[in-house]
Parts: sequence; C-alpha cells; structure tokens
Amino acid sequence: MPPGPPMLPGMVNLEELRGATHREAAGRLLAAGWDVCGVGDWAVVWRSPDGARVARVCAFEPAYGVFVRLCRNLADHPMLPRIDFDAALPGGGRLTVMEFLLPAAGPDAERVVARWDAALPADPVTAVRLEAERLDAEARAEVPFWGGLDRNPGNVMRRASGDLVLLDLFYAAGLEIYKVLLQDPAAVAAAFPPEQRVHIGEIAAVARYSDPEEITALRAAVASIA
Ligand SMILES: Nc1ncnc2c1ncn2[C@@H]1O[C@H](COP(=O)(O)OP(=O)(O)O)[C@@H](O)[C@H]1O
Ligand SMILES: [Mg+2]
Repeated sequence: MPPGPPMLPGMVNLEELRGATHREAAGRLLAAGWDVCGVGDWAVVWRSPDGARVARVCAFEPAYGVFVRLCRNLADHPMLPRIDFDAALPGGGRLTVMEFLLPAAGPDAERVVARWDAALPADPVTAVRLEAERLDAEARAEVPFWGGLDRNPGNVMRRASGDLVLLDLFYAAGLEIYKVLLQDPAAVAAAFPPEQRVHIGEIAAVARYSDPEEITALRAAVASIA
C-alpha cells in the first residue's frame, strides 16, 4: 500500500507526527481544526476539517496494528477502510489515518455478521474472515493479552455511497490487562516492552469510566513499572 499523502487537509504533516506521542498528535490535530467524532474503549477518533478522513489516536494499543495489517494484506478490498497512514508512536500509542465512515443501520450491520457466519466462498466478507482468522491465530501466539476476533455488528460502518465496511476486527483483553496491572503490575511489565506501555493508564476507557480512586491506583501501578 502506498504511504499516502503526508500533508492532509487541515495542514497536519503526518510524517512529523511519527515522532510525536499520542498526546502531541491529538494536540496538533485539534490545533489544525480536526474534531472528535468517535470514542471507543481504547481510542479517540478525530475527523479532518474537510470531513474526508479520520485520525484514530490511542495511548496504548495491543490490537489495532493487526487490523491495519489485515487492511494492507487485503488492499483495495471494498469492505475494508482505505488507510492513508499508520504509525506506532513513541511511548506505545498509535496513529491511524483512514477514510471517514458513517454508522451503519442495525439491520444492515447484522446482515454483514450473518454473511460472516455463513462463509459463502463467493461472498467478499468471506475473504475478510479467512485472512482475519489467519492473523488472529498469528497474533494469539505473538501478542500478550490477545483477545481475539470481534465481528460484532458495532464494528460495521458505511460509506456515504451505502457500501458497508468492517472495522476494528480484533481486540485485546483489556479488562484482564487492567485487572492484572492493578493486582500484579510486574506481570504487565513483563508482558509488554517498556516503550510500548508508557501511557498504558491513558486509554479512552479510563478517561470515560474510571473513578478518581481507580485513576490514582492506576497511576501508582504505572509509576511502579516505569
Ligand atoms: N473510519 C472511521 N470513520 C468514522 N468514525 C470512526 C471511524 N473509525 C472509528 N470511528 C468511530 O470511533 C469509535 C472508536 O473507534 P474504534 O476504532 O472502534 O476504537 P476502539 O478500539 O477504542 O473501540 C467507533 O466506535 C466509531 O464510532
Ligand atoms: Mg471499537
């Protein structure tokens, strides 16, 4: 896949963001007029001023790199997003720039999941499933706290044309990671290289759901393995 245009609408030089932390990347997107259009358990997603693209920014990311690999291995597959840029950031964050997509209607999303389960050889969904299953098996052996494949209807979106697109097809066992981080930080320290977990306490789920006591405990755990 070509690396894509380094300079995007909103005047963000993506190549310069390779050396930025996820905090700096989010700050530069905001300053250039990008705005938040999605928040998950891991990532915050920013939309470009012209509306054409999004930048998915996360602080600590064990799984999305595998999804990006899927998109690259099946480049130009009509049911996967076009990815313009992807980089692991210093400290363990990740920045992925891709086409903007809209939420899909519930019944449409459920039909895609049913097609996934039916696995008809001629269905384009099946090519995604087969490669996703191959990458899932690979990641299970390589990625600590790997969760698996997540083909829930919430991961189906659509283009303005109506074409349906699959996203975010893999997950890391987040509940387990954060439970272990609090109970036995050394186990998380041993699982992830230090440069990949500097900002492990800053994922979107922590910002959305953790109470101040949990955040204090998380910060202490992260400091103890820094
Ligand atoms: N390409 C996209 N276009 C528009 N919105 C998106 C796109 N990718 C993700 N989003 C929005 O951002 C949310 C979080 O993104 P996601 O990659 O699912 O993060 P997480 O891994 O935290 O679940 C999604 O639920 C969706 O609403
Ligand atoms: Mg998601």
